Order: sequence, then structure tokens, then C-alpha cells
Amino acid sequence: MIIQTISMKSITAEGLGTLSVFEGGHDVPFDIKRIYYIYGAPQGTQRGGHAHKALRQVLWCPYGSILIRLDDGHEKSEVLLDDPAKGLIVEHNIWREMIWQQENSVLCVAADSYYEAADYIRDYDEFLKTVQAKG
Ligand code: TYD
Repeated sequence: MIIQTISMKSITAEGLGTLSVFEGGHDVPFDIKRIYYIYGAPQGTQRGGHAHKALRQVLWCPYGSILIRLDDGHEKSEVLLDDPAKGLIVEHNIWREMIWQQENSVLCVAADSYYEAADYIRDYDEFLKTVQAKG
């Protein structure tokens, strides 16, 4: 499985912290229509457990540490998001799980489409059938 990560442009100002930035269409391979974020989750929280039929996303963790498990139906892989300047591109037809390694870690997601419940595949067997039908 090809894991696509981005290293965000980061500008550190002496004594004033760091500003990180990425741009839709430039640093990530799609335009961004929606941003959401998950916070207030205890350590050990597991979320996700679904794939998307078409949605493309970039995930990043501006605070804390979150393990992302990816599965394309053929191979599995893991990426640890523990650096605020690291982004992970998650393409469509990828089953994902997110596991909170540290309480209060924040998961941010920028997506290429508006929310659409019908775009989710929440059943793992259905996911496997979908990706295996595509070869
Ligand atoms: P979900 O994508 O299942 O989150 P996770 O995979 O992190 O557990 O979304 C959780 C709930 O929030 C679900 O009921 C759908 C709803 N939701 C929206 O209404 N709009 C959105 O943009 C998103 C991402 C989720």
C-alpha cells in the first residue's frame, strides 16, 4: 500500500511558536470543501471503522498522538500522527481506524466533499467485496 504523507510548511518564530500550513490543490491532491475535528477523547479511544466510496481526506493531529490503521482490502498499514506538521492523505476505498494514544489528542480532517452518509461503507465484508470487485 502506498502511504501518502505530507510535511507541512512550518514557520517558527523565535519564542512565538510555529505556524504550519497546507493548501488544497497545492500540498494535498484535491480541493477542500469540509473540515472537521475530533477532540475530548480519552486515551484508547477507537474511532473510524469505515471506508468511503469516493471521499478523499487529509488527516493531521495538531496536538497529541493518534495511530491511524489503514486497510485497502489487500494490505494493512499503520501511521502514527504525533507531529503537528505531518499530514496523512487517505484516499477513497480505504478502511480506517483511529486509536487515541494520548488523552485529548486532536484529530483534524479536511475532505474534498460535503458530508454524505451514503458515501460511507460501514460493513467490513461489504468493503472487502467492493475493493476485491475492483481487483
Ligand atoms: P463518523 O465519520 O462516523 O466519525 P468516526 O469515524 O470518527 O467515528 O461520524 C460520527 C458522527 O458524526 C456520525 O453520526 C456522522 C456525523 N457526521 C456529520 O454529521 N457530519 C460530518 O461531516 C461528519 C464527519 C460526521
